Amino acid sequence: MTEPILSIQDLRVTFRSRSESVHAVDGVSFDVYPGETVGVVGESGSGKSVTMLSILQLLPQTSRVVTSGRVLFQGKDVLKASQRELRHIRGREIALIPQDPMTCLDPVLRVGGQLREAIRAHNAVPKAEQRRRGVKLLDSVGLPQPERQYGQFPHEFSGGMRQRAMIAMGMANGPSLLIADEPTTALDVTIQAQVMDILRAAQAETQAGLVLITHDLGLIAEMADRVVVMYAGHVVESGDVRTIFAQPRHPYTLGLLGSLPQTGGDQDWLRPIPGSPPDLARVPSGCPFHPRCLHSRGREICSTQRPELTPAGETGAHQSACHFANELDNETVHDLLKAAEDIQ
Ligand SMILES: Nc1ncnc2c1ncn2[C@@H]1O[C@H](COP(=O)(O)OP(=O)(O)O)[C@@H](O)[C@H]1O
Ligand code: SF4
Ligand SMILES: [Mg+2]
Repeated sequence: MTEPILSIQDLRVTFRSRSESVHAVDGVSFDVYPGETVGVVGESGSGKSVTMLSILQLLPQTSRVVTSGRVLFQGKDVLKASQRELRHIRGREIALIPQDPMTCLDPVLRVGGQLREAIRAHNAVPKAEQRRRGVKLLDSVGLPQPERQYGQFPHEFSGGMRQRAMIAMGMANGPSLLIADEPTTALDVTIQAQVMDILRAAQAETQAGLVLITHDLGLIAEMADRVVVMYAGHVVESGDVRTIFAQPRHPYTLGLLGSLPQTGGDQDWLRPIPGSPPDLARVPSGCPFHPRCLHSRGREICSTQRPELTPAGETGAHQSACHFANELDNETVHDLLKAAEDIQ
């Protein structure tokens, strides 16, 4: 059996201030295998980005941020890596593709210059060769005139082109893991599809693992092999994509699947279930989802005991953190979806 490229084990991240502690990530565990795509889904504020940033140690390095657990990348704990090791991992082994590429692209440097920097940071490559490779990378992500665009500045690019340039930069050193955090949220639908195709092609070429963070379930259905559902800093369900869509075994996942696009807000987010996710400084006792859960029906254990992630199907691959996961047969699932619709 292949080893996971990334193994997150009981990861916890707490932001401390004088008055409170925000448990942004609270005991998250999951693995990513070479060549597979893991979709991480959950409402805004569920700890998805913090999970990924902590892996690369990109959170503010102050005593206010407390991280624990293990994050094994190629078998080595990155939470214990030195600054030198981290630089190597960030530029070469793990590529992060953010929601807004302008946070990573330098506005005053030409795209080609930034690509060359990415290439030569990890390899001694002659200058002419750096250029040749840079142009080839831009070509491989589908930029129409790579020679020309190599000499342009990021502000001369459209949003979709910038995202492509980010992917090109991420791929410069053949990373073994890609982390894409809402990579297409800012783009229109046609461009979204193109960017996803490019990401998929890039991944296929290097057999990299891909962690795709998104609130777009359509994207998850299309791209992911496995799904990790997060709620209030916890993984509440995980399994292969078909199982999650056909036989969800957590009421929150059910809510996500039955949700309607909520329009009119500043974010085109899906409202899974009536109510909103908790303030992470005041996560409810017991099951963090209990105040919103249509399946609990006030049962005491839901508000007193935190459910662990346990096998929910015949194989251990499907897991759910709900005390009453085994009650969620197809009929109950149907009734719950109907009840959620009625409330909305
Ligand atoms: N730099 C920070 N300082 C303090 N709290 C933070 C910081 N970054 C994130 N948080 C907290 O962590 C929570 C989870 O954030 P995040 O991982 O960005 O959510 P998601 O990506 O799922 O939308 C936020 O609601 C916020 O309370
Ligand atoms: S443990 Fe209880 S509150 Fe939590 S999801 Fe299951 S039924 Fe709902
Ligand atoms: Mg986020």
